[in-house]
Amino acid sequence: MMFTVAIDGPAAAGKGTISKAVAAHFGFAHLDTGLLYRAVGAKVLHGVDPLEAAQTLEPIDLEGDHLRTPEVAQAASKVAVDPDVRAALVAFQRQFAARDGGAVLDGRDIGTVICTGADVKLFVTASAQTRARRRLDELNAKGMGLEFADVLADVEARDARDRDRETAPLKPAQDAVLLDTSDLSAQAAIARAIAIVAAARG
Ligand code: CDP
Ligand code: CDP
Repeated sequence: MMFTVAIDGPAAAGKGTISKAVAAHFGFAHLDTGLLYRAVGAKVLHGVDPLEAAQTLEPIDLEGDHLRTPEVAQAASKVAVDPDVRAALVAFQRQFAARDGGAVLDGRDIGTVICTGADVKLFVTASAQTRARRRLDELNAKGMGLEFADVLADVEARDARDRDRETAPLKPAQDAVLLDTSDLSAQAAIARAIAIVAAARG
């Protein structure tokens, strides 16, 4: 059985939290597509050519907390503007989505480009302040010692770059369900998402 859930939205909106919970609930596989761009960005910071990095990604490249830093996030959003880099990552994502047993993919263009026929599309949002606060708490819980202003600046700069780019810009698919989590706990947001997916499964 193939069943695809596409979850898009701006930085730190709660896409990953919701995706993991939906995948666990329904027994689907989960792919955080942001990790692909972060892994390419991390390689570019080490001097590798962006397209070569995208064409040679290995599973091991997607591991590690070093991918979670604001510096790597910025590098990711810069390489993500390049249509050739994006194109090099499409086949892997579509194969993942088509696997037997169901899949949840989260990112920016899953509902609009990667899986236009997804069974469920969610567009998760929250105010930039809320998202930056959540991301700050998350990273500082890992001992990163970041300042709120720097995390907010990262989030806002990436959102602008992701929305304004020509190829696969950040925007809700026409048939996406909008989920504003500004005033929702993670548990409440997860419950909404599970209900939406359950309804679509019939
Ligand atoms: O994947 P994305 O960048 O969209 O966000 P995330 O990593 O799932 O969420 C960022 C942080 O916000 C995590 O620490 C979540 O636990 C937290 N969160 C929250 O506090 N309330 C929500 N409704 C959703 C996420
Ligand atoms: O976790 P967070 O939402 O902060 O970021 P992410 O999902 O890990 O994505 C990092 C960057 O990769 C984003 O700012 C986008 O520029 C890019 N990205 C993209 O262009 N398309 C995707 N499907 C996923 C991520």
